[in-house]
Amino acid sequence: MKNSSSAILSAVFALLLSGCSDSTPQTDSTDGKELYSLYCETCHKSDGSGNFLKGIPANRLTRLQKDQIILLIHQGDPSLPDMPAFSNLTEQQAAAIVDHLYSLRADR
Ligand code: HEC
Repeated sequence: MKNSSSAILSAVFALLLSGCSDSTPQTDSTDGKELYSLYCETCHKSDGSGNFLKGIPANRLTRLQKDQIILLIHQGDPSLPDMPAFSNLTEQQAAAIVDHLYSLRADR
C-alpha cells in the first residue's frame, strides 16, 4: 500500500513536471483524504487554503453545493476555466473528495 501510493505520487509529480495534465493517475481508492492529496493538493494545498499568488482559490471556502463540486471535478465548469476536470474519477470518488473538502472548513 505504502509503495503503491508513493509510486502514484511520483507519477503525479512526473506529470506535473512534464506539464501534462490530461492523463491523470488511476486509483480505485475511495478515501477522500487520499484522493484529495493525489488530485487536488498540488494546487489547493492539503488544508484547502489555495495559493493566492497563483490565483488558486481556497476551495475549502467554496459556496458550491456537493453535487456542483462533483460535476466540477468530473466535467469542469465553464465559469471556472482554470480548474482542471478529472473525468477518470468515479462519482463515488468525487463524492468522497467533496466530503473531505468540507471537513477542511475552519468552522468544523
Ligand atoms: C492545476 C491546479 C488545480 C488542481 C489540480 C485542482 N484545482 Fe480546483 N481550482 C483551480 C483553480 C485555478 C480554480 C479557480 C478556477 C477559475 O477561477 O477559473 C479552482 C477552483 C476550484 C473550486 C471552486 C472554488 C470556489 O471559489 O468556489 C473548487 C471547489 C475546486 N477547485 C476543487 C478542486 C478539487 C476537489 C480538486 C481535486 C479533485 C481540484 N480543485 C484540483 C486549480 C486546481
